[in-house]
Amino acid sequence: MAKALRIIFAASEVEGFSKSGGLADVARALPLHLKSLGHDVRIVTPFYRLIPEKHKTSTVVPSMGVPMGNEEIWCAVRHKDLEGTVAGKTVSVPVYFIEHEHHFFRHGYYDDGLHAYPDNASRFGFFSKAVLQTCRALDWIPDIFHSNDWHTALVPFYLKQAQLENADFLKSRSVLTIHNAGYQGGAPGIFRHSLGIPLENFVLEMFEDHGHINLLKGGINFADQVNTVSPGYAAEMKTPLGSHGLYDTYLRKGENFSGILNGCDYDEWNPETDPHLPANFSSGDLTGKKQCKQELQRLFGFAESSSVPLIGMVSRLTMQKGFDYLMPAMLRIMGLNAQVIVLGSGELWIANAFDQLQQKFPKKLGWYNGYNNDLAHLIEAGSDMFLMPSLYEPCGLNQMYSLRYGTLPIVRNVGGLKDTVMQYDESSGRGSGFIFDDPTSEAVSNTVGWAVKTFSERPQHFQQMVEIAMEQRFTWKTAAEKYVALYRKNL
Ligand code: ADP
Ligand code: GLC
Repeated sequence: MAKALRIIFAASEVEGFSKSGGLADVARALPLHLKSLGHDVRIVTPFYRLIPEKHKTSTVVPSMGVPMGNEEIWCAVRHKDLEGTVAGKTVSVPVYFIEHEHHFFRHGYYDDGLHAYPDNASRFGFFSKAVLQTCRALDWIPDIFHSNDWHTALVPFYLKQAQLENADFLKSRSVLTIHNAGYQGGAPGIFRHSLGIPLENFVLEMFEDHGHINLLKGGINFADQVNTVSPGYAAEMKTPLGSHGLYDTYLRKGENFSGILNGCDYDEWNPETDPHLPANFSSGDLTGKKQCKQELQRLFGFAESSSVPLIGMVSRLTMQKGFDYLMPAMLRIMGLNAQVIVLGSGELWIANAFDQLQQKFPKKLGWYNGYNNDLAHLIEAGSDMFLMPSLYEPCGLNQMYSLRYGTLPIVRNVGGLKDTVMQYDESSGRGSGFIFDDPTSEAVSNTVGWAVKTFSERPQHFQQMVEIAMEQRFTWKTAAEKYVALYRKNL
């Protein structure tokens, strides 16, 4: 049997401890599945302000110096196991938390609610260096440093630097997974000194981007292997339109840039066992789904009718998710014979627009401004359709949850959405969702109209699609095996 690997998984958020989006879900599920495949995987993440209130951690390294530029920053390392279930078996993965009051005891992870923290590059640069220092302090040398997004994009760079300085990590290799190439971690060039980026690395092919530092770009250049979270998005990232300005950087990686579709955590998102729901259900018996719909309608003060389709949405409120063209389409959508429930938090202009719409359509639009995991599960379960009209979508987890709950996704033909949802074919009645191409208000409202019409006028087709959707599986086991192959390719 091939040797078990040692993997250090660095992420700025981990579901159960900290979460703003799908990165957290992946940072929990992928390590648990790698562990269940027999590998020694450990997670490193920041010790944010909210974590100590909810979790009992213990200090494993009371004092650790992290050299940054010309100074040394002192922090501590805490530990707690992450527990989870993989195929019914309990699995646990050690999590190491980097404790540094100034950097991480703040109200937000990345911003104060309105503005990104101006020292984010220093905060996460320090965190990335601390990942290497933690391995040294624990005397545990990984085969693979697996980092995620711009926050930990400096890990591959610091690894290459360390390999020039001493023999500690000579055999280690780095993998950088991009969950969202739209966020690149920009910082003024002056940060070069505190991040320890020498002048010869502050060039166009490496960190330099229009006179600024671009952490993601630098990380891509220094990583042994780069991947993103779906093959569809990987293909888009090699084009000028879909790369957020970095297509030549991705093209330059050649074979060392690929796409691996995320899995869906079917232990957490399973309508047959989901503890967040008033009733459970399966594809064989959808009675519980009807009860979930009723519960949603009751919660939002809607008419409790099973014949009116209910459209759900759970989303970060940001341009990425298609709000620029969805909001102008909302009046037309509210004119359809449908109820709409939106759960989201994020940009103020979008939240304000939903406030106003709700006042106008109190019996048809349910709007919850905030973050609420119970409600997210109920919306996935109780809706008939799930709206996700993203401008771009590296993978998307919500549409996978929707499919599992028999809630047909209405999505745009991009990234991971096009890799996971099958277009409705009116002649055969097959498919698992409703897909549109153009990022326009007209395309999104027409497609919502098409879905509503199908629900009302072709119930047999709709029912058949629900069955097809509920059978789809995107397992983390498959994804984790692909990651292991990617690791081994580099060792
Ligand atoms: P992204 O990571 O781009 O936000 P994904 O679809 O990959 O999109 O993952 C989003 C994750 O965050 C899902 O687990 C979703 O349920 C959750 N989520 C997003 N917004 C909220 C919210 N307001 N309340 C509860 N969960 C949310
Ligand atoms: C990002 C992407 C989302 C993806 C998630 C997990 O937040 O926006 O599409 O599913 O990361 O990889």
